[in-house]
Order: sequence, then structure tokens, then C-alpha cells
Amino acid sequence: MPIIGFPVETKPGEKRCALLPANVKAYTLLGASVLIEKGIGEPLHISDDDYVQAGAQVADNRDVLLKKSDIVLALHKLPSSELRSLKAGALLVSYLDPFNESAYIQQLCDADLSSISMEMIPRISRCQKMDALSSQASLAGYVMVMQAANALETVLPMMMTPAGTLKPAKVFIIGAGVAGLQAIATAKRLGASVTAFDTRSVVAEQVRSLGAKFLDIDLGQTGETGQGYAQALSSEQMQIQQREQAKCIADSDIVITTAQLFGRKPPVLIDQKTIASMRPGSVIVDMAAENGGNVVGSVSGETVQIHDVNVIGTGFWANGVAKHASQMYASNVFNLISEFWDKASNQFALDVEDEVLSACVISHQGQVVHKMINDFYQQHGVPMHAKATQMTAEA
Ligand code: NAI
Repeated sequence: MPIIGFPVETKPGEKRCALLPANVKAYTLLGASVLIEKGIGEPLHISDDDYVQAGAQVADNRDVLLKKSDIVLALHKLPSSELRSLKAGALLVSYLDPFNESAYIQQLCDADLSSISMEMIPRISRCQKMDALSSQASLAGYVMVMQAANALETVLPMMMTPAGTLKPAKVFIIGAGVAGLQAIATAKRLGASVTAFDTRSVVAEQVRSLGAKFLDIDLGQTGETGQGYAQALSSEQMQIQQREQAKCIADSDIVITTAQLFGRKPPVLIDQKTIASMRPGSVIVDMAAENGGNVVGSVSGETVQIHDVNVIGTGFWANGVAKHASQMYASNVFNLISEFWDKASNQFALDVEDEVLSACVISHQGQVVHKMINDFYQQHGVPMHAKATQMTAEA
């Protein structure tokens, strides 16, 4: 019976995990046995016993878990020093950040590990149930509004009281993808007056359907990729956007930036001059602070004061609601595993030609098998051993 192993997350501060007791039975029904590392649910106040009651086994230690598992499911990539502990040919599923982590991908190839990058699950209907980027981004949208509301010295809703009327807070959300739309919905539920902007004009309707205003900025031609991601703007378009949104930012109590560009650094949207135009005590949340930032001066992992404005770049957003985030992530990875579980052979059927797997399997049989990642490495002159790229070159 194949063993699916769930190690404790080693990233400092991480509370989420890739398995809740509720998922164990589903794996055993597939025909796999579930092995957990001691303490996997501890940050969520879930005991090993809860997992055992559900049918899981607890490994004596982490090394045993890694050595025994045919499939390892996690949130963050395993430390590279541990890759050699896994069985040759084992499958590792986690976030892998393959665009930026070429050395790690090389190590996966060298250790003969198959790997699936959760960030690369395609954004198509069939994959919505496996889409961890969306599940975690949606919670991030919620958490960012909570953090902003906490940092603000005023309430969000309008309140008419015998002691006077309190005006609703003005919230401006830049980027109305998964996180942005959830932030809009959350801020609206809290009673704020919400405006949003996105370069993809197709989302204007979605923004309005949540009861928010859409800031119309004429940027000329903007596009989106086949997968629905925004195209990068030209420098002229960026200038127009920054100029046209400046008034809305200056007038906002909270600005939340969620703009991302797939496989690229996030666009810089707010400069120091614009921050200085905001009222003292206002709040900016920069969702992208960890990857370079939408806001000049935001600091990854921290809240800083710039011109008397609180700029929140703490990141790790979904970790702020770790139990629900784990529930969603665990369900995403289970849906991925079960989608490709071959009942006849009782194993995960890793077909690199499959429409979904070809988009998210990065390494297999000692090679980088992902075309886009291989092309990216080649374009950026990333050195990979001949062995790691041979298969795609031949294809
Ligand atoms: P993302 O995280 O890549 O980007 C967030 C948002 O920032 C996007 O809406 C993007 O248009 C916007 N953006 C980029 N540059 C900007 C700028 N200069 N100013 C303002 N906004 C800017 O996007 P996310 O949230 O991951 O969604 C990407 C697309 O994928 C969306 O169209 C979404 O609807 C689609 N999607 C489709 C799914 C499916 O299964 N069919 C599942 C999830 C998302």
C-alpha cells in the first residue's frame, strides 16, 4: 500500500499544515496509508491522537517519515538537505516557486524526485478544487482587511449614534483578482465605502456586483494571458495609472494593494509622494511586500510608518487564519491526489502528457519536464545540468 507522508512545516511561524484529521479517511479510502510527523497539527491545537483516531500512523521521527513515504505532501518545500532522505522516484507536492528556485529544482532532479508545484496548478475550471493559490489568496484578502481595520484609528462602518455620526471608512483596493475580490467583499461587509481598480477591465463588473465602485482609468490596450493573468503595463501606462489613482489614494483611509504579474516581479504602484498625500494615521497593506512590493518602502514581514501612514507588509496572510487555511489547502492537495489516483494500480498516475499535470509537474525521472520553466531557465541563462533539461530538449 503506498504511503503518503505529511511532515511538520519547518518555515518559522508557519501554523498551517497539509492534512487535517478529517482528510485521513479519504486517503485511506483511495487505498493509501497516511503517515504523519509527530506534532503536525500542534500549532492548530490538533493532537497526534486526533490523526490516529482518524486512521493515520505517526512516524517515529521525521527521517523515518521521509524515507518511508512514496508521496510527501506539504505546504512549503522541504529543506534541500532533506531531499536525499526521500526514496528515489518519490513524489513531492508543495509550493516550489520554480521560477525563482532553479537550484532547488536542480536538486530535485539530482535526487530523482518527481515534484508538483502547487503554484502551477492551471487556473481552469477542472482544477478549481486543487487551486491552492486561489484558496489561500481568498483568505489573504480577508486577513488583509482585518489587519488594516485593526491598525486604523476609526471604525469601518457608518454609525449614527446619540453621540454623533461616524463616517464610513474609505477603502481603495488595487488589483481585483482572487485576493482583491475577497478584500472588497470583506470591507463591504464591515460597512466601508469601497473603490477598486484593476488593469483587467473585465473585472469591473465583478467589483460592482460586490457593491463597490470601480475606478475607471483609461490605460488604452491592456490584456490578459490565456490563463486570465494580467499582462505587464508599459511604463507610460504605469504613469497614467499612478497619476489617475493618486486622488483616490489620498482620499482613502485604507489602501490594499494586491497586484501581481504571473512569473514576474509585482508592479510598483504607490510611491513615497503618494503615501505622503494620505491623511496621517491611514493604512496601506502591501500584499506583495514579500516579493518586491507594490508600495515603495514597504518591508516584508513588518509594519512600518512612512509619512505617518502605517504600511503593513507582514505577509504570510493566510497563516493568520491558519485552521481554515489548512482546511482549504489540505482539501486542494487531496483533490489533486485523488484526481490522478489510478485505482487499478493503486498509485498516483503521473502522466506528464496530461493537460493538468504537464502544467504543474516540474521534475520527473531526473529531468525538468515543465516546458515553460525550462524555457524560462534557458531565457534567463539559468545553469541546469544537461541531465535536467535533456528530456524537454528531445521532446
Ligand atoms: P494575480 O494574483 O496574478 O493578480 C492579482 C490582480 O492584480 C489581478 O486581477 C491582476 O489583473 C491585477 N493587476 C496586475 N497588475 C496590476 C496593476 N498595475 N494595477 C492593478 N491591478 C493589477 O491574480 P489572481 O488573483 O491569481 O487571478 C488571476 C486570474 O485568474 C483572474 O482572472 C482570476 O479570475 C483567474 N482565476 C481563474 C480560476 C479558474 O479556475 N478559472 C481560478 C482562480 C483565478
